[in-house]
Amino acid sequence: MKREIKSYVLRQGRTTPSQQRALDELFPRFGIPFSKSFLNTKDTFARTAPTVLEIGSGMGETTAQIAQQNPSIDFIAVEVHGPGVGGLLKKIDALELKNLRVVRHDAVEVLEKMIGDGTLAGLHLFFPDPWPKKRHHKRRLVQPPFAALAGRKLAPGGYFHAATDWSEYAEQMDAVLSAEPLLEKADQVKNRPVTKFERRGIGLGHPVRDLLFLRRKE
Ligand SMILES: C[S@@+](CC[C@H](N)C(=O)[O-])C[C@H]1O[C@@H](n2cnc3c(N)ncnc32)[C@H](O)[C@@H]1O
Repeated sequence: MKREIKSYVLRQGRTTPSQQRALDELFPRFGIPFSKSFLNTKDTFARTAPTVLEIGSGMGETTAQIAQQNPSIDFIAVEVHGPGVGGLLKKIDALELKNLRVVRHDAVEVLEKMIGDGTLAGLHLFFPDPWPKKRHHKRRLVQPPFAALAGRKLAPGGYFHAATDWSEYAEQMDAVLSAEPLLEKADQVKNRPVTKFERRGIGLGHPVRDLLFLRRKE
């Protein structure tokens, strides 16, 4: 996927001392360095299990919760924002999660370079930056090349679960994902815990929409 425009702008933000300590001390234990070769999840998690990748885990509350609730699944969280990665590393440590690891890098590049085609059991995209201004729409992650990439990385029958509180982006996601030949829309959506960003949207009165697509089996 040729892509110059990123779906994020790296803001420095404030990294708290404990987040920084987590980045320094815990990343070597619970982080996966970005690499241009495919990840061998059997080595990463020391077992063979279905793998789910999350794009933009933010502060990681929901990510850690989902991993804790699903010990038979391995999770890879991908996030570019340092304080978020630090926050999630702390949660992995505190909860002693063996089935959750973090990559601090652009998720599109991670999917392209580190994940083999047809290998993911699931993909999570919860509340991606909505980029509401028209001139910023080009930064939105869910566009046709991304839908093709997502479809290619999923195993047949694997799922793509997206959620947003921005109605017009939900429409775009629905249209783009429905048009991707590798994906088909599921009848039902999956349950998931409320995320930090979602709570903010609910507070502002935004309607939340979940979408579930499956990788076609043929
Ligand atoms: C609006 S926040 C939502 C965070 C979290 N999912 C939640 O619901 O609370 C979107 C997150 O996606 C991250 N992000 C955006 N584009 C990304 C990319 N290409 N790769 C990795 N992370 C990305 C941002 O840094 C941000 O933390």
